[in-house]
Amino acid sequence: MEALAEHHPDLVITDLYLDKTKAYGMEILQKARALIPSPACLMMTGFGSVESAVEAMRLGAYDFLENPFKLDELKLSIQRALNYTRTVAENALLLRELKQRYGFHQIIGAAPRMQEVFRMIERVADTDATVLILGESGTGKELVARALHFNSRRQHAAFVPINCSALPENLLESELFGHRKGAFTGAINDKNGLFHEADGGTIFLDEIGTMPAQLQSRLLRVLQEREIRRVGDTTAVAVNVRVLAATNENLEKLVKEGKFREDLFYRLNVVPISMPAQRERVEDIPVLVYHFLRDKVHSRTGQPCKISRRALDALCLHDWPGNVRELENAIERASVLSESPLIVLRDLPPVIIRNIPVGESDQPETALVAEFPDGSPGYTRVSGTPPPVSVSPKPGTAMPSHIVSLKRFIRDQETAYLNHVLTLTNQNKEEAARLLDISLATLYRKVAGEGE
Ligand SMILES: Nc1ncnc2c1ncn2[C@@H]1O[C@H](COP(=O)(O)OP(=O)(O)OP(=O)(O)O)[C@@H](O)[C@H]1O
Ligand SMILES: [Mg+2]
Repeated sequence: MEALAEHHPDLVITDLYLDKTKAYGMEILQKARALIPSPACLMMTGFGSVESAVEAMRLGAYDFLENPFKLDELKLSIQRALNYTRTVAENALLLRELKQRYGFHQIIGAAPRMQEVFRMIERVADTDATVLILGESGTGKELVARALHFNSRRQHAAFVPINCSALPENLLESELFGHRKGAFTGAINDKNGLFHEADGGTIFLDEIGTMPAQLQSRLLRVLQEREIRRVGDTTAVAVNVRVLAATNENLEKLVKEGKFREDLFYRLNVVPISMPAQRERVEDIPVLVYHFLRDKVHSRTGQPCKISRRALDALCLHDWPGNVRELENAIERASVLSESPLIVLRDLPPVIIRNIPVGESDQPETALVAEFPDGSPGYTRVSGTPPPVSVSPKPGTAMPSHIVSLKRFIRDQETAYLNHVLTLTNQNKEEAARLLDISLATLYRKVAGEGE
């Protein structure tokens, strides 16, 4: 057991009974499984009983060999176990990489109101508290919901967003809770709902203010009893789901008007996080602009893009009823319209140009700003680093320009992974090729960016 901690092996082969009476093998197994990353464990025993095999597998043993076994059997089992651990390790690596590179929830903001939001996220992310995210449309509510999920211990399970206003009442109900075959016309099969899908993870109920009264009651029961019943089902099943909700409506007002259940409101409003409107954080406009130029425009065009001082002034003078989303769209649009890698006033939407006094807008654009500031202020994943310039497909956003071809996505992933392994091996290409199980020539070709 000391050797385990000291050597951190890839593989452990142990007998279940090292002693006639005590099953030390189980202890070794448990200790091994607690290591991170944990080695693959093969158990063997001469007193093979089904129960101990089952127990060992339950505790995470990879395989079980009954004595006496053939050496070939053991070899095969070792090979499979090592392949398996390698795949698990690679997946964990890829997941981490993916999250850093694509920063699912990189939230930019230096304004005091945003700092408050970040502090709240830090405080409640890794709890199971129900969070109600409030704010106008486009202020980043969904981004916050993702940050909460991906900074919690539920991050490896699903994050399931659902827009409560997008479906009619009866569909929403079966969407959320599932249904039994024949529960209503069209229910031709049993179907699990989103609460099932989110089991172990997080469900994000967007636009909760639009939820019909009858469903509000059902949701309240789910929150109270932590179990759900499919439509047309008589029995309930327990689910372990964290609930996050968001709305751009004034829920307290809806409660007063009798349109939203008061008890549900209190259940949801355990931790409120209130997103400031863009006009309440004008000071963040420049950093947001840099962020979008770097993260969206640069990665799409492959060219650094700048913005003129007066264009930036005009952006700061606009009142942004559509909040960050509107700003993001304005930058994307401008970068498409702009004929050079410099965004000037005339590339902006007319409502924004109007903010600059007539006459002035005709002056030649000279002063350049927008070198990307190092480490733009904002919130990213606790253990993550700000993503490098990259394509940025954010799940859940319907911005076609964020979407790249599958081929490009895979190539980007591959490049990132290659670089990662090269870093691990101190740029030793022979070693990297061996680890990656590809030929040195292939590695060179891939590093040179020649694809397959
Ligand atoms: N602080 C921020 N930093 C960077 N990007 C942001 C920020 N806030 C919002 N965005 C971007 O603006 C867009 C809108 O954000 P999001 O969808 O989270 O808003 P929302 O509050 O859920 O809006 P709605 O109420 O309309 O659903 C997204 O593309 C998001 O990436
Ligand atoms: Mg939203």
